[in-house]
Amino acid sequence: MAWIWTILALLLLAYILLWKRTNNNNKRLPPGPRGFPIFGSLHLLGEFPHRDLHRLAKQYGPIMHIRLGLIPTIVVSSPKAAELFLKTHDLVFASRPPHEAAKHISYNQKSMAFAEYGSYWRDVRKMCTLELLSNVKINSFRAMRKEEVGLFIDSLRKSARDRVAVDLSVKVSSLSADMSCRMVFGKKFADSEFDERGFKAVIQEGMQLSAAPNLGDYIPPIASLDLQGLTKKMKKVGKVFDDFFEKIIDEHAQSKDEDKNKDFVDVMLGFLGSEESEYRIERSNIKAIILDMLSASIDTASTTIDWAISELIKNPNIMKKVQEELENTVGMKRTVEETDLESLDYLNMVVKETLRLHPAGPLLIPHASTEDCTINGFHIPKKAHIIINAWAIGRDPDAWTDAEKFSPERFVGSNIDVRGRDLQLIPFGSGRRGCPGIQLGLTVVRLVLAQLVHCFDWELPNGMSPADLDMTEEFGLTVPRAKHLLAIPTYRLHK
Ligand code: HEM
Repeated sequence: MAWIWTILALLLLAYILLWKRTNNNNKRLPPGPRGFPIFGSLHLLGEFPHRDLHRLAKQYGPIMHIRLGLIPTIVVSSPKAAELFLKTHDLVFASRPPHEAAKHISYNQKSMAFAEYGSYWRDVRKMCTLELLSNVKINSFRAMRKEEVGLFIDSLRKSARDRVAVDLSVKVSSLSADMSCRMVFGKKFADSEFDERGFKAVIQEGMQLSAAPNLGDYIPPIASLDLQGLTKKMKKVGKVFDDFFEKIIDEHAQSKDEDKNKDFVDVMLGFLGSEESEYRIERSNIKAIILDMLSASIDTASTTIDWAISELIKNPNIMKKVQEELENTVGMKRTVEETDLESLDYLNMVVKETLRLHPAGPLLIPHASTEDCTINGFHIPKKAHIIINAWAIGRDPDAWTDAEKFSPERFVGSNIDVRGRDLQLIPFGSGRRGCPGIQLGLTVVRLVLAQLVHCFDWELPNGMSPADLDMTEEFGLTVPRAKHLLAIPTYRLHK
């Protein structure tokens, strides 16, 4: 019994300290729900936090304060507000908050995505941007992507011959994982020995644990008690990753193959222990970055492709237009090459529209303030968590007409882009913490989508009409379809 009283006393103390810190100086926080002592407004967030926060923002405004547990959190829900946080005051909000999963799985927040703002993050970000995700490096994997996409199309052709429905969600996710693994460590996940459950299952468990609402993140004084048993599971998954990455690094270090195209691990090993290297990285940093590159690339791309093809199946007239563009640009005698992608204007509008309505990370990754700041007359305290609701911003009625409608035509004659310059469309974030993998992500999404639509016509199973396709989503680290997309392909090329 004594431990319960100790916890309650600790919580009360933490609450009083927090209350004093945010209230004793009469500074005006942005409006928001009041919440209960200790738990704050956690009860207002349900299965779909991006939708709940959107609903609350309609009541309290585009810059809202909501206390989640003991954590003061600012939710940003309009393009104008996002500009203030991600452009005007970008530097103040370029850090990441502490995160239990990142501590136990991502090497004590040493991955780029979860690292605090500072010299370590700057070094790692520079290395990844210049050495791993540069256009030259991405293009060096073009042949690998062509090979993997070719295998993928062959297997779909087999289903087309047999007239059987394909689980496109699973197929696309495996393709994306294969391409990411080959790029990062040179082999497919299916080829790699892992623990008995297999690589994909462990990656998924890591992602689920990272996305699970963890009381320790919201009420830090009780984090070490691990009341939900999450920390124990995280440490176990973290150990599986660590053993695997150790093996991968050893294999790379021993490899004598000088002629192969260097994968990411080869490149990073080249900087390890080198006196001339401008990047100060250690073995544990390499492991954190491997995890970063895998978890940031696999599900984001496959979720986006899955939503795009779902929208096209649901809107046959739009599908037809994409097919016509492909017929006119590429013809029917060969498949799409990466070099065709820039000329496919309509396909690129379909991808933008998909990213507007179905951003893979609807709340981006939480940012954190490194100092007190005043925005629009509101006090934003140091160490507040900042949630940017990109999902709500993509639906802002002041920025978008008929916002809920899937209409790629809205981009005709408009130069609104997804890369972070235009704050009404930020599926990759914007500013210092914006996604460094945009070029790669867009290349993979466009390439796979183009192939799916160019090579095949798609029909829903059991005579289901396109209008009846279920578009319910599931919230996690990314937001995929709740139900897998099943569809029957018919091959349509003359080759
Ligand atoms: C369609 C594909 C993708 C989407 C929609 C996407 C989206 C995002 C978003 C929303 C963020 C958070 C931005 C913020 O917090 O402000 C992010 C960060 C990040 N992304 Fe991506 N991403 C994609 C592909 C990729 C790829 C292919 C890679 C690398 C292989 C990658 C690596 C990263 C990293 C390392 C970060 C953290 C950056 C930092 O904190 O400094 N992403 N991405």
